[in-house]
Amino acid sequence: MSVAKKEYKRITVKTLVDMKANGEKISMLTAYDFTMAKIVDGSGIDVILVGDSASNVMAGHETTLPITLDQMIYHASSVVRAVERALVVVDLPFGSYQSDPKEALRSAIRIMKESGGHAVKLEGGKEVKESIKRILNAGIPVMGHLGLTPQSIYKFGTYTVRAKEEEEAKRLKEDALMLEKAGCFAIVLEKIPAKLAKEVAKSVSIPIIGIGAGNGVDGQVLVLHDMIGMTHEFHPRFLRRYMNLYEDMTAAISQYVEDVKTEDFPNSEEQY
Ligand code: KIV
Repeated sequence: MSVAKKEYKRITVKTLVDMKANGEKISMLTAYDFTMAKIVDGSGIDVILVGDSASNVMAGHETTLPITLDQMIYHASSVVRAVERALVVVDLPFGSYQSDPKEALRSAIRIMKESGGHAVKLEGGKEVKESIKRILNAGIPVMGHLGLTPQSIYKFGTYTVRAKEEEEAKRLKEDALMLEKAGCFAIVLEKIPAKLAKEVAKSVSIPIIGIGAGNGVDGQVLVLHDMIGMTHEFHPRFLRRYMNLYEDMTAAISQYVEDVKTEDFPNSEEQY
């Protein structure tokens, strides 16, 4: 269904819930720095996620586990300085919320106070229910994340599609209902069968944002560096590349190297 796009000056958590109710799809991308966030926000994105994928994309780690709360706050505050319209959601990194609800609240408060982000996201279902409640009680909006939750990669052992079996699918459906009941304003569903994601999206009134979860959900999220083709070794089926920046940048930089070496750059008009 194609729905006329309503103009929103500023996206809030309420806007997202209204979008779902009105059948308008939600667009979400990651960003981790000021310059990229300015482009993404200026392009009309609804939600910017300062994802812990910064651990992979920005720092070159193999997993999302090493990134720290301080590092997430650094990335998030750079993004917040650039953004005028989008809702900025910041990931709570691994180790900053799992041990107990009080620590989860302290971490969420640090993100909100020190970065100026508008909401936090955390991974998991009933095992993090108390932490979610504690954060919400402090007035901090929470986005859930179910399915392939990368902070649990060592438990899963692989990045393949989750919840293909009935038992895990049932647990995921229960967790989604629990997150809605607890007060989350939205849920990310990562890498699960499209049919299951659609069923979950129909069963709750809060928006379901998918990544590798098909088109029966209320919005889509991708990692910015993947969708603009800056990363080039990652080819999951769900990824649509809108540009091939890795190749374009390599060509541009090689040309610059050549121009410097041959003294073509700078020319007479490029100096004082
Ligand atoms: O960290 C991240 O980029 C994410 C998205 C993949 C949803 O959590």
